[in-house]
Amino acid sequence: MERERMDFHQALEFLAQRAGVELKLNINNNIKSNKSNNKASLYDIMSLASRYFENNLKSDGTAQAYLARRNLNLNQAAKFNLGWAPRAWDGLLKFLSSRGVSEAQALSAGLIIASERGGFYDRFRGRIMFPVKDISGRVIAFGGRLVDGEGAKYINSPEGEIYSKRSNLYLIDQAKNFMKTCGRAILVEGYMDALRLHLNGFNETVASLGTSLTEEQARLIKRFCDTCYICYDSDEAGQEAALRGMYILQSCGLDVRVVKIAVGKDPDELLSSPDGVNLFNQALSNAQPLVLHHLAAIKKYLNDANKRRFGVESLLNGLAQLEPIDIAPYLYNLTGALNLNPENLWHEIKTRKRKRHTPEPQNLNSLNNDNNNLNNFNELECALLALLWHSQELRRSIIDENINIIDENMDLNKLLELIDPEHEDIADMLAAILTEGPDILEERWLSLNETHYLSLISRGDEFLRNIPNSISDIKAKFDAICSVLKARKLTKRFNELKLKLNSGSATPDELMEYCAAAAKIKS
Ligand code: UTP
Ligand code: MN
Repeated sequence: MERERMDFHQALEFLAQRAGVELKLNINNNIKSNKSNNKASLYDIMSLASRYFENNLKSDGTAQAYLARRNLNLNQAAKFNLGWAPRAWDGLLKFLSSRGVSEAQALSAGLIIASERGGFYDRFRGRIMFPVKDISGRVIAFGGRLVDGEGAKYINSPEGEIYSKRSNLYLIDQAKNFMKTCGRAILVEGYMDALRLHLNGFNETVASLGTSLTEEQARLIKRFCDTCYICYDSDEAGQEAALRGMYILQSCGLDVRVVKIAVGKDPDELLSSPDGVNLFNQALSNAQPLVLHHLAAIKKYLNDANKRRFGVESLLNGLAQLEPIDIAPYLYNLTGALNLNPENLWHEIKTRKRKRHTPEPQNLNSLNNDNNNLNNFNELECALLALLWHSQELRRSIIDENINIIDENMDLNKLLELIDPEHEDIADMLAAILTEGPDILEERWLSLNETHYLSLISRGDEFLRNIPNSISDIKAKFDAICSVLKARKLTKRFNELKLKLNSGSATPDELMEYCAAAAKIKS
């Protein structure tokens, strides 16, 4: 991302020029005005933006050069409506406003960002744009790929009224009919992987959207076919998460086959290698059923006295999520590798099944011991989860946006902003608790063996018990927690900006933001 680098004087001049710009809008009022109208117009705005990005690509040399480096020509890019977000801070903002789209609308479409001092700027700058469409082909979000410079490799639209990443898949609109006719889906991780496979004739490919696979996504695939070839990057890092996703797919009734990438790090690289299509076809025909894949993945632990337990548990907990009919074909492989007789194996699996199906809410604390990563999480964020988990009233008032916290009405998006972006897990949980409620979630998490989630809530409970009794009602507790999180966020941002200013890399907007933050912290 190319930032406008200026020295302090240039920055002040620039600001002086912009000082006359008056922003006259009340975001809250506009956004809330009419929900369903808003939804319809959000689709229109996304489609306008998509065309704007597409047109930019046709005339931008840098963007085209990048695509050429990635081995994509303009015709191919057009098949997926790829686009280019120019580097300017307000390219899309200006375009949308020339089409009568208000800042409030562009904001609720997630296309622009409000800066602390009241201005707005484009979310996507200097990026190749991948429109994400829903199943009927309407643009609901964008992913933007950085072409050079510093910054996150991809940034994505925030979730909102028309976009929920947990229930969509990239290219599902183009893939769904192919999935039906060939009876299988190919699931990959990346935007580039998905479109590369489509370009090579594997039109039944979809990509998860940069998060671990959800049950909603699995059900979406199952609507069109019965077999899912899962083809994730070859790195070790994401293996546990990948396995979890595979069990979700299999539990939804899909026959899961795990494809191993032998050349390159992902399907895009494999297909770009000489003879890539053949190699990929081979990889598909060598794909392993989930049970055998899991068994192969833990084989390396079986002869290691320290790790054997871990490996065996991982496998047995996985098997406990499957129906006997999914396990039976591999019984011989399993008993052989684990050195158990079939009766003992069934017994071990059944015990774990029972464990998963007996929720004991009063015992949630014991789950704490199951997970040792918990220290990475912020107690306050967990407390927020716990309050929402227990109080339907609180959930309602946030869904209806009629709860007033620290002088502003709190809705889901504002709440999510208070969560540290590194704690994506917690943000996802918050959204899920609000939209689905604890009863459904508890059952689902237990059935998926996601005890980790429940531990976070019990950790929040623990924290809440230590809050002084003087703060008695739920709303007051919620208010207090939100305001501390808000202050933390502000301080964190303030320190980031300070570093940037000291190194001379701050933009004018960031300078203003810094001043505003300093004033707020002082007060
Ligand atoms: P990868 O890092 O594997 O990228 O992320 P990729 O798809 O191979 O991308 P190229 O080939 O370098 O362009 C896989 C997917 O995870 C999401 C994106 O959806 C990406 O396609 N992702 C990755 C993000 O959302 N943000 C990131 O910063 C990185
Ligand atoms: Mn890649």
